Order: sequence, then C-alpha cells, then structure tokens
Amino acid sequence: MTDPQIHKGLAGVLVDTTRISKVNPETNSLLYRGYPVQELAARCSFEEVAYLLWNGELPTEAQLAEFTDGERAQRALTPELKAVIDALPVTCHPMDVCRTAASVLGASHELAEDSSVQANMDKAVGLFAAMPAVVAYDQRRRRGEDVVEPRDDLGYSANFLWMTFGEEAAPEVVEAFNVSMILYAEHSFNASTFTGRVITSTLSDLHSAVTGAIGALKGPLHGGANEAVMHTFAEITESAADGDVAAHAAAWLDEALAEKKKIMGFGHRVYKNGDSRVPTMKASLDNMVKYYDRPDMGELYTALETAMGERKNILPNLDYPAGPVYHLMGFDTPTFTPLFVAARITGWTAHIMEQLEANSLIRPLSEYNGAEERHLP
Ligand code: CMC
Repeated sequence: MTDPQIHKGLAGVLVDTTRISKVNPETNSLLYRGYPVQELAARCSFEEVAYLLWNGELPTEAQLAEFTDGERAQRALTPELKAVIDALPVTCHPMDVCRTAASVLGASHELAEDSSVQANMDKAVGLFAAMPAVVAYDQRRRRGEDVVEPRDDLGYSANFLWMTFGEEAAPEVVEAFNVSMILYAEHSFNASTFTGRVITSTLSDLHSAVTGAIGALKGPLHGGANEAVMHTFAEITESAADGDVAAHAAAWLDEALAEKKKIMGFGHRVYKNGDSRVPTMKASLDNMVKYYDRPDMGELYTALETAMGERKNILPNLDYPAGPVYHLMGFDTPTFTPLFVAARITGWTAHIMEQLEANSLIRPLSEYNGAEERHLP
C-alpha cells in the first residue's frame, strides 16, 4: 500500500475558487476584485474598499453616500455591549474583547438566525461600523480614560483615531492609518478567513464565523505578529545599554536564531520573495517616522531587516512595518491585532457571503496513526 499524501498545514492545497482577491507570489502582486491593492491604498478610502470587497465594484458617489450613512449610524456601542466589555478583566488580551464583542453583536442582532444575502450584508456593515468603537473603548478603559463617542462628520479612519485618542488626528496620520486598513483588509484563504469559511460551511451564522476568525487571527503566526514585532523592538532597545539600538539588532537576532526562535514579522507561507504589501506600508512608516520625528525607529527597522536578510534571506511581511506605525500613532501594543480585526472584518465577511453562494461542507480527512484496535480486558 502506498503512503497516503498528507498535506500538512494544507500547504499548496487548492480548496476552492474565489473572486474576492488574487495573491500572486510570482508577480508579487495582490488584487482586490481585480484592482492592485497599492492603487486602492493610494487613491481610495477604506469605506470604498470595503464596499468593493463586498459588492465586487467600487461605489458610485450616491452608493458611497448611502453606505457611509448606514455605517456612521451604527458606530456607537450599545449600553449592553459596553456593560459586557466592562465586565471583562483588563488583564485579558484585547483580542479576547474583540472576540467577545463580535459574539455579543451576533446574539443581539435582530436577524441573528437569518443568513440571507441582505441580512448578512447588514451584519457585515454592523460589525465593520462597531469594531472601531470596541477597540477604542477597550484601549481607553485600560488607560483609565473616559469614553469618546464616535463622530458622524468624520470618515472611518479619522473617527477611529478620534475615538481612541480623543483628538483629531493630523491628515498624514489619518492617511497612514487608512493605508494600513486597506492593506490588512483581505488576503485570500489565510488561516482566519479559512476558519470563517469552515464555520460558514456548516451553515452557522455570520457572527459565529467572524468570532472564530478572530480566534484564529490572535495567534502570533498570523495576526498576532504585528504585536510581537513591537515586543522584539522593545527587547532590542532594552538590551542596547549603550544606546546604539540599531547596532544591537544583529546581536539580538543572532541570539534569537541560535535559540531557534521565529522572528515575528518575517516570512510568509505564500510569498517567498517578499510580501506585496510591504513597500506601501513601509512608505507609510517612513512618513510616520518623519511626522513623529523618530528616526531611531526607522533605523531599528532597517537594521533588523538587513540582519535578517543577511543571515536567513527571509523578508518582512506586512506586520513588520505595521507594528511600528501603530506604535508611533500611540496605540498600545496589545491593541495592534485588534486593529487588524477591524480591517479584516471586510475580507472575512466577503468570504462568508461567497462561501454561502455555492456552499459545500468543509470536512477533510485524516490518516489515523494511533494505537491498533484493542479491547477492554
Ligand atoms: N524566523 C525565523 N525563521 C523563519 C521564519 C521566521 N520568521 N519564517 C520562516 N523561517 C524559516 C523556518 O524556520 C524554516 O526553516 P528550516 O527549513 O530550516 O526549518 C523555513 O524558514 C520555512 O519556514 P516555515 O515555518 O516552514 O514556513 P511556513 O510557510 O510554514 O511559515 C510563517 C510561514 C508566516 C508561519 C513563518 O514565516 C513565521 O512563523 N513567521 C513569523 C510569524 C509572522 O510574522 N506571521 C505573520 C504572517 S503574515 C501576516 C498574516 O497573514 O497574518
């Protein structure tokens, strides 16, 4: 008997088709509904990209106005959701707060058990609108700050920053944040999106699928890497007693590699010649380094990237520039992955709706290699 082929980690396995995004590692490109993500990041608001991911086309002016009206009307947290968040200990990870909030929003949705296209679109927009308030509310409560209510005269990114920091962000900062949301929005059959599709394939509801996807994203091999990058930067900075942080990066890396550690923010399952999203995010990091006058952050970024290239020839992924961008903006490190959640809700929910269009239960097989059949004495 020949050995069955095991596709560990499903690496290289095609499991379905999708019209939502195309990741092409050969040409190092990423298309959302056919548009290069770099073009969208340079020219569109995150709201327009969300609309595109869900509907397949960019909105007309009238469609965008109708969409943003609906989104702005659902930004505020209900007292019930605030009470649930307040009941969670501040020692829990902010991703646990996002996961709980998604579940609560599902349980209290008036169309909870309705999985029609219209109901799911409604649920997707509701999650998209409310998650920024969840993330902002949680960061502020941990800091002992009062809640800042959303403003309906600001776009998604400006309002997100407003609710988090209680002051209007400069246009450069809003722009960098908008770019990060667009780059994080969608990436084909990654682990969390696939989780969402698996849950949907059982004909469970959209909020259950998003809640599961948030759990998958939390891990440091996936979304948790942007947070982990900042821990790395902090470790390097702390170990550089002489203040020459950039010079210390190589020594830190040698030690970490000798201990067989994975360096967070580097490597990718699909891209082996560099992540297509990195140059755009790196340009935003450069802008933020300039805006906040933090050349040290740019130097550390380059020093670790160079050392990793020389030693392992492994390139950064999106989480590597995104982590320091969020740090410079003032987000607390554990809040970085929740920012990824806020962005990826768009991609997840687009995939959930696509899965339902031609659903087939996702149920793979396993090769049993446990004990031979045996019997109780
Ligand atoms: N640091 C050190 N070595 C690495 C790294 C890394 N970040 N990434 C890959 N390698 C090495 C790995 O040790 C292995 O070497 P060897 O063949 O000698 O055992 C080789 O490269 C292949 O790695 P792999 O883990 O088998 O590759 P994979 O496709 O399973 O892993 C990955 C992809 C993203 C899980 C991995 O690169 C990793 O753990 N990176 C760090 C975590 C990270 O940054 N995750 C964010 C991913 S992108 C954003 C997102 O989608 O969430």
